[in-house]
Amino acid sequence: MAERKTLGRKTVSSAPEPRSCAQLLVEWFRTHARALPWREGDYDPYKVLVSEFMLQQTQVSTVIPYFRRWMSRWPDLESLASADEAEALKLWEGLGYYSRCRNLLKAARGMSKAGYACPPASVEELRACPGIGEYTAGAIVSIGYGLPVPAVDGNVERVISRLFGFEGLSGSTALRHNVTDVVSAMLKQLRSLPGKGATPRDFNQALMDLGATVCTPSRGGVPFCGECPWIECCLAHKNGREAELPLPRQRAPISQDDAWGLLAISPCQRELLLHRRPDEGLWASMWEIPWFIRKENFWKDFDAWCTALNMEIQLDRNDLKEVGSATFSFTTHRVRSQVVVCNVESVPSGEVWCFYPFDELDNLSMPAPSRKFLSCFNQNFIFCDKYK
Ligand code: ADE
Repeated sequence: MAERKTLGRKTVSSAPEPRSCAQLLVEWFRTHARALPWREGDYDPYKVLVSEFMLQQTQVSTVIPYFRRWMSRWPDLESLASADEAEALKLWEGLGYYSRCRNLLKAARGMSKAGYACPPASVEELRACPGIGEYTAGAIVSIGYGLPVPAVDGNVERVISRLFGFEGLSGSTALRHNVTDVVSAMLKQLRSLPGKGATPRDFNQALMDLGATVCTPSRGGVPFCGECPWIECCLAHKNGREAELPLPRQRAPISQDDAWGLLAISPCQRELLLHRRPDEGLWASMWEIPWFIRKENFWKDFDAWCTALNMEIQLDRNDLKEVGSATFSFTTHRVRSQVVVCNVESVPSGEVWCFYPFDELDNLSMPAPSRKFLSCFNQNFIFCDKYK
């Protein structure tokens, strides 16, 4: 066994053997696979497509109820291809990252237009669809169709980095390449395993489950190495480095911001002023309750906001009510907002503003901050009949 010395500590560096690692993992998966709705029955590539879109940046437990509702409403690619985007966004509400929902719809429409009744079994064709990158394409063809293609996301990267003691920075291209090479090598061994061998479908899902349940990120505590099928061969574990690997990349610092959330009520008292967000970027094209940066008092900040947007909103300056506070986060921002209610005389000109009936707001898909402002309003505002 090749060993090297580091700072007086003996470092074990003999690389694990892909074939025996693959065998241990698929055996473990036979008894430890998580029961997940997209794994029920025969694997349906359409279900895999939808689950993988939902699972991008979102935990399995959050996704499950959304996935079930989605499948009841659009059980196959064809029904999804003719779905109404507003309805899909409404069903997606709460999962966040709404561009995923739009891309899923666009991808389904593109596939259907190209004559497919279910997602194509080709990495190249899948990658040509909006929202499908290397990982998602690999997951769809391996889980949906059983093809031997790696599907390396952050979880798989962590598991394999630890197993092989890779020193690359998390998320770096160099580490992704090393990890993908290892996964490819293991996939090649599957058919030679004892018994009937193992499938790429099981193998890739086993890596995902190991990462989610055993080889967990060290920021949430320590991984559960005692339960790992690779405890005897994992280099990170042998060298006491499971909490260190993969090496974290530099994260952008979090900024704390203050804001006003403005519930501006129409002259008829039954509608709320909404603003449509730009077509690109965060919460693209969604209607939201206006909010803006809080630096001084409300009126100074409001005037600065109107000037910045080059628009005029006539609010009743004698009747501003604070109804509470709400916090929300996006990208690297944590925002504390004061929620205020005011009467507004007229909708600003332009198609990015509208008065929207209070009693139809539940049917509209809105970004998380708007829902928080609304719930603050509903809890704290002394309700008169006219708002009902
Ligand atoms: N995370 C991403 N894709 C997954 C899948 N198909 N099963 C479990 N966890 C996942």
